Amino acid sequence: MEILSVNGGKPLYGTIPVSGMKNAAVAVVLATVLVEDKCVIDNLPDISDINIALEILSVMGAKVKMLNPACAEIDTTFLKPGSSPYDLVRKMRASYYLLGAELGRFGRAFVGCPGGCDFGVRPIDLHIKGFTALGADVNVEGGYIEATAKDGRLSGDNVYLDLVSVGATINTMLAAVKAKGLTVIENAAREPHVVDTASFLNACGADISGAGTDVIKIRGVDHLHGVNYTVIPDMIEAGTYMVLAAATKGKLKVTGIIPKHVSSISAKLEEMGAKIVEEDEAVTVEYAGPLKRINVKTLPYPGFPTDMNPQMCVLLALAEGTSIITEGVWNNRFRYVDELKRMGANIKVDGRVAIVEGGESLKAAPVRALDLRAGAAMVIATLAAKGHSEISDIYHIRRGYEDLVGKLGKVGADISYKDIPDRQDLDQAN
Ligand code: EPZ
Repeated sequence: MEILSVNGGKPLYGTIPVSGMKNAAVAVVLATVLVEDKCVIDNLPDISDINIALEILSVMGAKVKMLNPACAEIDTTFLKPGSSPYDLVRKMRASYYLLGAELGRFGRAFVGCPGGCDFGVRPIDLHIKGFTALGADVNVEGGYIEATAKDGRLSGDNVYLDLVSVGATINTMLAAVKAKGLTVIENAAREPHVVDTASFLNACGADISGAGTDVIKIRGVDHLHGVNYTVIPDMIEAGTYMVLAAATKGKLKVTGIIPKHVSSISAKLEEMGAKIVEEDEAVTVEYAGPLKRINVKTLPYPGFPTDMNPQMCVLLALAEGTSIITEGVWNNRFRYVDELKRMGANIKVDGRVAIVEGGESLKAAPVRALDLRAGAAMVIATLAAKGHSEISDIYHIRRGYEDLVGKLGKVGADISYKDIPDRQDLDQAN
C-alpha cells in the first residue's frame, strides 16, 4: 500500500505552479461527447479523475490521443452512446456529465450511477429535474440512470434549480445545447468551471449566454464542431497551497492562476494576518506573525469555496482563539475532523458547524485521507506539525492534485511516497 511519509515543522519557501482545474477539465472532457468531431483540450491536470474520464471515452469508441501529458486530442465521431464502463463511471462523481452529453447528442442516455467523495448524501434530483423539463423520461434502476427524449430530441424550456448546484447547472446546459429552442436555467451556479464549460461549448458553436450569473440562456443549435481549447487553472489547488504557506509559517508564490477566482481565499487569509501580494497571474502568501481567529462560512461561488473547508480548518486550528467554520453546501463535510483530533486539534462539530479552539500546535501522527480535500488538509496539517507523520489512503489525493510531492518538494517540504505492506500482505507473510 502506498502512503505519504512527511517530516513537518519547517517553513516552506518558493514558487508553486498550478495545474488545470479538475472540476472544469472533467466537465470539458466529457462535454466533447456532444461534438461529432475532433477536439484538442489543453492544460489538463495529470490526475486520476481526468485519466479515468479519458479512459471512459476511449472505451466508448472515442479516439483519444495524448499530444503531451497535459493535452488530449479527442475525436468522439464514432462514440457509442450507453457504452460507458460501469466500474470506471462509479469511480467519480463527474461521470454524470455523460448523461447530459449523451442526451444532448443522441436523445438518449444510459450511464451507471456516479461515485465521488463521501460527505453525506449526494442526490441528483436536480439533474433529473433539468432533463425532465427538457422533455426526457428519466429512470434510475439497477445501478443505472436511463434518460430518453420523448420526441427523440429535447425541447428547450425554463429550469429553476431549487438549490445552487454546479453539477445540475452544467448537466442541464449539456442537455440543452442541441435541444430545439430556448432553455433558461434560473438559480444557476456561477463557479468558474461552469463558465469554462460554457466557453468551451460556445467555442464549438453552441449559443450560451449568462454563464457566471444565476441565469443562463441556451439557444439550441443543430451541430457542434471541433475546437482547440485550454482549461482554466485550478482555484482549489491554488487555495490549498496558499493556506499551506500560512500554515507552515513560510512564503509561497502560487503561479499560473486567475487571482479573481481565489479572492475569497485571499480575503480570509488576510483577515487572519497573512500578507497577500497579488499579480496578474500569481498570488504570494507570506506568514506575518501569529494567525488571528476568524469565522468562515462556505458558500457557492463567489462565496468561500466548500472545497476549501478542510484546508481552512487546519489553519484555524493553528490560529490563536476560537474560530467557527460553517459548511453552507454539504451535509457532512467534517469527517476529517476526527483525523485532525489525532494530531491534537481541539474541534467540536455540530452538524454543519465546527467550533475550533486554536492555539495549540498540531502534533505529528499517522492519519488517513478520508476524501480528496480532506487528504489535502492532512498534507497541510502534517507539514505544519513538527515530527514524522504518515498519511494513508492517498488515492483520494491523487484524484485532484497533480505531482503533489514534486511540487511540494521544490519548496522545501520533506514529503515522499512510501510503500508499506498492507494488512493482507502481512497476514500472508505469517
Ligand atoms: C461539484 O460537485 C464539485 N465536483 C465538488 O467538488 C464541489 O464540492 C461542489 O460542486 C460544490 O462546489 C465536481 O465539480 C466534479 P453540487 P456537485 O451539485 O456538482 C445538493 C471536489 O473536491 N444537490 O453543486 O456534485 C448537494 O447535495 C469536489 O473537487 C441536490 O440536492 O455539487 C449539495 O448540498 C467535492 N440535488 C448542493 O446541492 C442535486 O441534484 C451542491 O451540490 C444536486 C445537488
